[in-house]
Amino acid sequence: MKLPLNDTIFDIITRVVQRENVQAFVIGGFVRDILLHRPSNDIDIMVLGKGINIAKKVAVELNMGNQITVFKNFGTAMLQYNHWQLEFVGARKESYSRYSRKPIVESGTLKDDQSRRDFTINAMAISLNTDDYGVLLDPFNGLDDLKKEIIRTPLEPDKTFSDDPLRMMRAIRFATQLNFTIHTRTFEAIKRNKDRIKIVSAERISDELNKMMKAEKPSIGYKLLNKSGLLEIIFPELFRLKGVEKKLNIGHKDNFYHSLKVLDNIAKVTDNLWLRWAALLHDIGKSATKQFKDNVGWTFYNHDFVGSKMIYGIFRKMRLPMNDKMKYVQKLVRLHMRPITLVDTIVTDSAVRRLLFDAGNEIEDLMLLAEADITSKNKIKVKKYLDNFRKVREKLKQIEEKDRIRNFQPPISGDEIIQTFGLKPSKIIGEIKVKIKDAILDGIIENSYSAAYKYMLKIGKEKGLNPKIKAD
Ligand code: CTP
Repeated sequence: MKLPLNDTIFDIITRVVQRENVQAFVIGGFVRDILLHRPSNDIDIMVLGKGINIAKKVAVELNMGNQITVFKNFGTAMLQYNHWQLEFVGARKESYSRYSRKPIVESGTLKDDQSRRDFTINAMAISLNTDDYGVLLDPFNGLDDLKKEIIRTPLEPDKTFSDDPLRMMRAIRFATQLNFTIHTRTFEAIKRNKDRIKIVSAERISDELNKMMKAEKPSIGYKLLNKSGLLEIIFPELFRLKGVEKKLNIGHKDNFYHSLKVLDNIAKVTDNLWLRWAALLHDIGKSATKQFKDNVGWTFYNHDFVGSKMIYGIFRKMRLPMNDKMKYVQKLVRLHMRPITLVDTIVTDSAVRRLLFDAGNEIEDLMLLAEADITSKNKIKVKKYLDNFRKVREKLKQIEEKDRIRNFQPPISGDEIIQTFGLKPSKIIGEIKVKIKDAILDGIIENSYSAAYKYMLKIGKEKGLNPKIKAD
């Protein structure tokens, strides 16, 4: 089988390797993605010989001699040319992980190199050599597996996974991204080798989780992680949401599967990775707060608050970003119940104002999360909630247009209160500010400077304060 390589970069590489009398191949993900018609900019070039030397020569040919990055220890060289990210490497006999410090032991043949890759679909190569240019070289039937939609290791899976245990995560990530099945023997090996994941760094695991989270249906990955036994090791907090307990014949929903459903629901409406994380983690506080009360049944009191407090520890342990992304997830987890409590009662303007105030710019994402959280199988119930959410959204829009609460700035500053009443900085300033804010949110006064100023004078009077500056 011949594959088209439609870019001058391939012709240039072919010219260089012919002149240097070595052989080279495009290999790995790029080949897989051509066959899947998925766009990819990362090209891995494998050379039977010194990859770095060829990379340098190609760079000279492209007038980019000084723009090449060489990783001597790994025997690789990188070059950014147009939109292409090229990586050159010599063929290896031993498996090698680009993140490990393991030295490159021995150079190998094309087949040696292909056999030490992770999956058959990632072990295909395309020749860049003049005599068989464009021919697919596929000793492990990767093309067949691609057609059958199977993830399978080229060698005995125990060997492939012990070479690099991250590949267990990669298998599950590819199965999720491509909606492929992991071959039974490969999957059995993941189960057997699951504890080896402990030697892999949290960053690399999270990289894979994030790629999984960006897939169309991320639940596929979490279900496989659960089935393989990896979930308990890499994500115990999520694992603990699993299961249904019964008391006095009363059960509760399985919060693990519910969370996955919410994650899939949100994935249909947003590509925002952190909103997806918030969906996955929205009920994470439920295992710690679960209680059975005789007259009530199962309760998860305060799980929103407890859950939001867990985010810091989870993000830190998983080496996820400890910045505004984490704060965003914390906020959404903390507020995730708010829209639904609105729906259960008569939606008052002041309740909507409070929600707008607390959610701020995250209000739209919070509404998406609340809608995704409706996973009931009862169609009537679902319709009722979604209809009510529509009403809440309308009201949010009306009130925001009128009162501009979303980016609420206190109309009267602390300094102004101090000057008006001739006060020293003290607790009372904060109290007056809160009262003004509450009056705006409760609709007692409108959100304007003049209304707030008058109201400040009124509160001052009640507290026995006299204005030192004459009010207009
Ligand atoms: N590879 C491997 N074992 C790993 C990582 C990578 O065998 N643990 C090999 C595979 O042949 C893979 C190639 O190196 O196709 C390139 O790896 P990488 O760029 O990480 O992944 P891709 O397969 O290109 O896929 P993606 O870009 O989606 O991560």
